[in-house]
Amino acid sequence: MTLLIKGGLVVNATGAVAADVLVDGEKIAALLAPGFPLQADEVVDAAGKYVIPGGIDAHTHMEMPFGGTFSADTFATGTTAAAWGGTTTIIDFAVQAKGTSLLSTLDKWHAKADGNCAIDYGFHMIISDVTDTSLKEMESCVEAGVNTFKMFMAYPGVFYATDGEILRAMQKARETGSTIMMHAENGIAIDQLVAQALASGRTEPVEHGLTRPAELEGEATSRAITLARVTGSPLYIVHLSAAQALDAVTKARDTGQNVFAETCPQYLYLSLEDLAKPDFEGSKYVASPPLRPKEHQSELWRGLRTNDLSVVSTDHCPFCFKDQKELGRGDFSKIPNGIPGVEHRMDLLHQGVVKGEISVERWVEICSTTPARMFGLYPRKGVVAPGADADLVVYDPKPRQTISAATHHMNVDYSAYEGMEITGRVDTVLSRGRVVVDGSGFHGSTGHGRFLSRDLNQYLV
Ligand code: URP
Ligand code: ZN
Ligand code: ZN
Ligand code: ZN
Repeated sequence: MTLLIKGGLVVNATGAVAADVLVDGEKIAALLAPGFPLQADEVVDAAGKYVIPGGIDAHTHMEMPFGGTFSADTFATGTTAAAWGGTTTIIDFAVQAKGTSLLSTLDKWHAKADGNCAIDYGFHMIISDVTDTSLKEMESCVEAGVNTFKMFMAYPGVFYATDGEILRAMQKARETGSTIMMHAENGIAIDQLVAQALASGRTEPVEHGLTRPAELEGEATSRAITLARVTGSPLYIVHLSAAQALDAVTKARDTGQNVFAETCPQYLYLSLEDLAKPDFEGSKYVASPPLRPKEHQSELWRGLRTNDLSVVSTDHCPFCFKDQKELGRGDFSKIPNGIPGVEHRMDLLHQGVVKGEISVERWVEICSTTPARMFGLYPRKGVVAPGADADLVVYDPKPRQTISAATHHMNVDYSAYEGMEITGRVDTVLSRGRVVVDGSGFHGSTGHGRFLSRDLNQYLV
C-alpha cells in the first residue's frame, strides 16, 4: 500500500519545505518535489496545511491508581483521544507499588496496554521503593526498553524518596545510561502546610495551590540538580510549573550539566485563578505541582524559546468531576491529582505559533522531535524523513474551533479548557502508515498500537 500526501508544507524541527510525502506501508518512503508525477494507492490532499511528525506525549497516566481510584482513561480510550489530537505516541508511567518489584510492575503495565492501544506506546518506570533489588532491576528494565525512571520528592508515605534514595538511584542511572525523571516539590514541607491549612478549616481546592508554593518547587529542583551533579547522571524535571524551578534548570544548563525539563499546557494556559473557582469547580484544576499565578506563564514561554524547557508533555491524568474529584470535597488534600489533556496538546501549543511565542518549527520540536530524541525513539519517530515511521499529521492552521467536553474524546466528564477558542485543527492522522483519523472520523483500532522498546537518551549535551 502506498499513500501520497500532496501539496502540504512539511514542517520538521530543522525547517519547513513544500513537499509531497510518499508513504509505503508503515514507513515514509520519500519527500518529493511538489506535484512530482507519481501514482499512489491513496492520496491525501494537504494543500494549505502543515505535514508534521505525529506528536509524542512523553508523560501520560492511563488507568493510574491514585488515592483509592484510577485515572479515568484506559489505554484504549486515552490513546484514541490522543490520536484525535494528532498525538501518535505516548510514553506512560508504570507505577511500582511499595513492596513489589519493578519487573512485575512492568508486566502489569504491559497487561493493561498490550493489544489495547490505538497508537504506539512506551513506558517510563516510577520507582517508589528504593531497595537493593529494585536498583538491580533497573538494569533489566533498561534491557526491556524502559530506561527512564521517575522519582518523587513529593507525596511522603506514598511515592516519596529521600535524598539518599535518590542519590543511589541516580548512581544506578549513571551506571546504566538511563535517566532519572524528577517530580520536584518539597513534599515534607508541603505536608506541614497542608496539615496547618486543614487544621485551621481551610479546605477548598485553592488551598491545594496555596500549600504548595513555587519556592518549594524551586528548592526541590535545585536539590535534584545538585544530586544529579554529584552522581554525574542526567536529570529530566517533569511537569515544571514555576519560574523558580526554571531558573534552577537554566543555571544548571548554563554550566553544561545534563539537565532537561518539560512543562505542560496547563501551566502555560491555566492559573491559580482557575483553582480558586467557586462551588468546588476548582477541583477540576487540582494537579501537582499546582497551577501558578499567571506571572509564571511568560517565563515558561521564554524557557520554551531558549530550550531551557525542551519538551511539552501533558501529564494527562483524568479524574471525573462528578464521582472522582468529589472524593476531596471538604478536604482538598483528598482530591485526586491530575488534569486531562492528551487530546489537546498539539492544538494548545499551536496557539503559541499563532500568537508568535514560538515558531512552527519549534512547535514540532518541543511536541515531537525532542521527545523522540530524549526518549530513544529518533529517527524512528519525531521526524518527517525517509525511513521514519509514517506517523504523520496533516494540520490545518486556519480553522477556528472551541474546546469542550461535549466534543472531546477523552473518557472524562469535563474539559479544563472548556470554551477556549483556538486556531488550527488536526485534519488527518497516520499511525505507521494507517489513516487513523480524517475528516470522516476515527478509523483506527485499539489493537494497532505497538510497544516501543526505547534506546538510551540521544539528546545529552
Ligand atoms: O497531579 C498530577 N501531576 N498527577 C499525576 C501524577 C504526577 O505526579 O505526575
Ligand atoms: Zn509528578
Ligand atoms: Zn504525571
Ligand atoms: Zn475516512
